[in-house]
Amino acid sequence: MDMTPGRSCPLPYRYAPDAFHGAAALAADTLWIAGGLYGNRFALQALLEAFDAEPGAKALVFNGDFHWFDAEPAEFELIDETVLGFHALRGNVETEIAAPADGAGCGCAYPAWVGDATVEHSNAIIERLRTAALGSGRDLQQLAALPMTLVAEVGGERIGIVHGDAESLAGWNFSQEVLGTPQGAAAAERALVRSGVKVFASSHTCLPVLKSFPGGRAVINNGSAGMPNFRGERHGIATRISVRPVRNPPYGIRLGGLHADAVALAYDFAAWDKRFVELWPEGSDAHRSYFARIRQGPDFERAA
Ligand SMILES: [Fe+2]
Repeated sequence: MDMTPGRSCPLPYRYAPDAFHGAAALAADTLWIAGGLYGNRFALQALLEAFDAEPGAKALVFNGDFHWFDAEPAEFELIDETVLGFHALRGNVETEIAAPADGAGCGCAYPAWVGDATVEHSNAIIERLRTAALGSGRDLQQLAALPMTLVAEVGGERIGIVHGDAESLAGWNFSQEVLGTPQGAAAAERALVRSGVKVFASSHTCLPVLKSFPGGRAVINNGSAGMPNFRGERHGIATRISVRPVRNPPYGIRLGGLHADAVALAYDFAAWDKRFVELWPEGSDAHRSYFARIRQGPDFERAA
């Protein structure tokens, strides 16, 4: 295993397949899952407004990495306080802020296809974010105590919510790179069956994936709620799983009695642009790694 900080996957990030076998933590007709908010308070506002408008019995789960660019005490406090008012899982970012593992860096467990510069910038971002978190007055033990997995029931079906994949908080097995291979797809299907869930909802890899499997099963990765997800598009994405359909989703799928769809979060782009540059000016680690994506989206096309 590559032990470079930011490359390795710390052992405490792993969980057993029976992590998904217990009683569901919540039941709802409609479940929203938002991973990768990355400290974008304008995306948070857009998400909460959209979720407010959802009718019926509903729940919102933040599945990790809600912090990242909010490396200023007041900004951190605002995000932390708001998100922890809902169900939340810890991502590698929250884990490395609150309970850093030796040598984990950002805890991203970046695979080989992610370049060294990105890994180094991410390790520097986590250092600055940790300083802001410590200065914020928030109780970081609350972050350390957040679960790594959660099972929700929607329309009587079990949904496994994770940050990374079926085995690890920072796993990349639900990335489009892995799910696009026959071996990766077969492993995901085995994980769904073994875990006893119809759907895994993930985030972490920062690019969206929707992959269906026989038996009405699927993996849906929302990519990022707080950053653009497709080339030329600027909105964030959340996942919605419901017994009811939604009109004109960016993409989605029918799974027996459930609808699993993407929700577009069209936040105030100009305001976030301005705030991001205040927090991370030109030349800073986050600016160098992320500003192009914040402006123009990633180098990733929406596929059929
Ligand atoms: Fe992550």
